[in-house]
Amino acid sequence: MIAGNWKMNCDTVATEKLLKSLIAALPAEPKADVVVCPPFTSLETAGRLLKDSPISLGAQNMSEKEGGAYTGEVSSSMLLTVGTSFCILGHSERRQYYGETDELVNVKAQRALQAGLKPIICVGETLEDRESGQTEKVLGKQLDGALKGFSADDLKKSVIAYEPVWAIGTGKTATPEMAQAVHRFIRERISGIDKDAAENLPILYGGSMKPGNAKELLAQPDIDGGMIGGAALKADDFVAIINAV
Ligand code: PGA
Repeated sequence: MIAGNWKMNCDTVATEKLLKSLIAALPAEPKADVVVCPPFTSLETAGRLLKDSPISLGAQNMSEKEGGAYTGEVSSSMLLTVGTSFCILGHSERRQYYGETDELVNVKAQRALQAGLKPIICVGETLEDRESGQTEKVLGKQLDGALKGFSADDLKKSVIAYEPVWAIGTGKTATPEMAQAVHRFIRERISGIDKDAAENLPILYGGSMKPGNAKELLAQPDIDGGMIGGAALKADDFVAIINAV
């Protein structure tokens, strides 16, 4: 799976332009499941444009509440009505700038699953965590918290994205070996819930993945795809990453 996280980029006009270029450049049968995650205001436009395409639509966040007096929030059912089938949850930017905790990510993930949306749950260590030898401890805590109460069936409808915070938008990428070791750790940790579901769970790598480094990263046995930020905003780069699968 190759997922594009557009972050706070692309109004409706830019969304239409980027998606038209993407649809034109994408092979008829892409080698990966392709997901794009534009901002909320572009989801309806994107949903319309992607209707008969092989590209699925995802949101970047959602409310943990079902509906009601929660100013500024968007619910899972609202996302479904515009054709969204995935939702990124717990991205490090949400954790860092908006105070999202593992507990909140867990409630959101449960809500997404109940509504029929597939959560793409993000985890990742900071540079400080890595340098102090805390990577596995931090990731273990994030996974245990975000996946609390998950059944094997829930795992079958979920995706994990490993995004080392120090590699996001920095141009620094984890080496394929470094990323593979963490992906293996994640899969083993999750096999505590269900071994088969963990073996089949898509675990994406995210953090400065580009056409030039995608192939090596995607060749690792436990790297099942990528979450692409910056390079997802250029149709040619995004398609080159998909073609590297
Ligand atoms: P990047 O972002 O590819 O620009 O590093 C990845 C992400 O934050 O999902």
